[in-house]
Amino acid sequence: MCGIVAYTGYREAYPIVIKGLKRLEYRGYDSAGIALLNGGLNIYKKKGKVAELEKLLEEKKDELHSHTCMGHTRWATHGEPSDRNAHPHYSNSRGIAIIHNGIIENYEALKKDMQMRGHTFHSDTDSEVFIHLIEDVYENNQCSLEDAVRIALTMVVGAYAIVILSKDHPGQLIAARKGSPLVIGIGKDEFFMASDATPIIEYTNEVVYLNDFEIAIVKNNTLTIKNIEDKISTPYIQKLDLELDSIEKGGYPHFMLKEIFEQPKSITDCLRGRVKSASGHLMLGGIRQYANKLIHADRIIFVGCGTSWHAALVAEYIFEEFTRIPVEVEYASEFRYRNPIIHEGDVVIAISQSGETADTLAAIELAKAKGAIIFGVCNVVGSSIARASHEGAYLHAGPEIGVASTKAFTAQVTVLAMMAIMIAHKKGTITESRYQELLVDLEQLPSKIEKTLQLHKLVETISEEFKNARNFLYLGRGYNFPVALEGALKLKEISYIHAEGYPAAEMKHGPIALIDEEMPVVVIALQDSSYEKIVSNIQEVRARKGRIIAIVTEGEEQIRKIADFVIEVPRISEPLSPIISVIPLQLLSYYIAVMRGCNVDQPRNLAKSVTVE
Ligand code: G6P
Repeated sequence: MCGIVAYTGYREAYPIVIKGLKRLEYRGYDSAGIALLNGGLNIYKKKGKVAELEKLLEEKKDELHSHTCMGHTRWATHGEPSDRNAHPHYSNSRGIAIIHNGIIENYEALKKDMQMRGHTFHSDTDSEVFIHLIEDVYENNQCSLEDAVRIALTMVVGAYAIVILSKDHPGQLIAARKGSPLVIGIGKDEFFMASDATPIIEYTNEVVYLNDFEIAIVKNNTLTIKNIEDKISTPYIQKLDLELDSIEKGGYPHFMLKEIFEQPKSITDCLRGRVKSASGHLMLGGIRQYANKLIHADRIIFVGCGTSWHAALVAEYIFEEFTRIPVEVEYASEFRYRNPIIHEGDVVIAISQSGETADTLAAIELAKAKGAIIFGVCNVVGSSIARASHEGAYLHAGPEIGVASTKAFTAQVTVLAMMAIMIAHKKGTITESRYQELLVDLEQLPSKIEKTLQLHKLVETISEEFKNARNFLYLGRGYNFPVALEGALKLKEISYIHAEGYPAAEMKHGPIALIDEEMPVVVIALQDSSYEKIVSNIQEVRARKGRIIAIVTEGEEQIRKIADFVIEVPRISEPLSPIISVIPLQLLSYYIAVMRGCNVDQPRNLAKSVTVE
């Protein structure tokens, strides 16, 4: 949510920053801007995608020479998307500029105060207030700029990742973070700053993740990290294991399609070294010291948002069946404001692809303060949630860039299934033969996903048939009820068609009123423990002339006779079936969105990583 990138070093800075902004565009794309030192501190910004800014700057290329530059791609919170609200923002004297990701909650009070003291504002953003405040402190305290930033940080309430550039300090970048991610890349005689590592990995794999309340100062070709109390710390340099290929489209028209088709590989990577059916091995290396807390938990509470919340719903079914531990699934945004009851013996599992979702992070901080042990299930290594958790398991699904989450969902369910099976085996709540069977099933996931992906042509044909529908209903039962929610979410997100997901039996309590010959109904109707019941639900839809698209088990006969379209997926044990059944739904939403001319990777109003409340 808002992407920030900055560079200082021996190279031309603008090309690095503009390329970095393109890599970060999944975080927000309603306006973009840069600031650089080219004989003065100059800002160029534009409403719209990064390409619009680039077009504007094409004609000004000759004036963009600088060795220090910072850029921003915005997802609007305060102030509509417009040129004036785009970042960077100048200070009152125009001598300093800021880019900001986050929300300053007390900006109105600060702004009023500043206006009374003669500051003039040029935007409706909370971010502009921040840079005025910094300058105000700088001028009134006769201190260094880095001290002014540090003092100003003690006066703002909210979340931020900021970078500051000053006309009087060429070659200097000052950054700070609280609640919004910031990573610093360390090259030879050059430094990079960004919301995540994707703009950096092309140049260096040595990075430092800034912690909350830390300030990073790059000057005289040296990086200094200090905290808000002015205490200097030694930067902890990590080596990133990220390939450039993994963040590029690799011949696919969209990241989303690439990521859907990557799933055999992402699940293979997710299982690697963790499961070996031949020797009965199942082990999640990240869960060691606190493993007993999980095994003997009185209650497990899952927290997450969006697709990650759907993965948690699947996990609820899996954990309860295998481990017999009571489970609750919470929207992180609700949980954090509810004064939830946490007992000793409760375990919280936070699920987040990015590891940066503000509500999920706040939910775990709250649970931690109440004494819970936290396990993180994240994709992004070194992310805030991963670091705030006691222990956890990474997805190892590779970077997910398409805003609509696909491969992260299947990897989340895979990791959570492994976790549940591991606990159940240790607790003795599943038999040895069931355990063995499940390990084999886990190992077969990549090849079954591969087979499911071969259905893409069929799904494309079905998409053609329904691309102009105005509503969709998705139905599922048991393990596949959350898949119905996820299928509906995918369609809403990228094609802007209204869609609802429901447990199939609940249809009679309302949604059935919507069904007529215009209404496509996607039913996940596998041959599992709910099969007979869901066949009845399909009959109910058919009796009201709804158009049925059924996801069924291969070899299915009965439903073929009553559905308009059937998509046959490989047979797999019921608890793992969501990993397979969701794939045709991902493809359906993708093709429909493309056919409707929608921007699949950058759907309107959305951002990949929601780092504000
Ligand atoms: C945003 C994304 C969703 C994602 C959700 C939670 O809304 O667009 O795809 O599911 O955030 O993100 P997380 O990174 O915590 O899984």
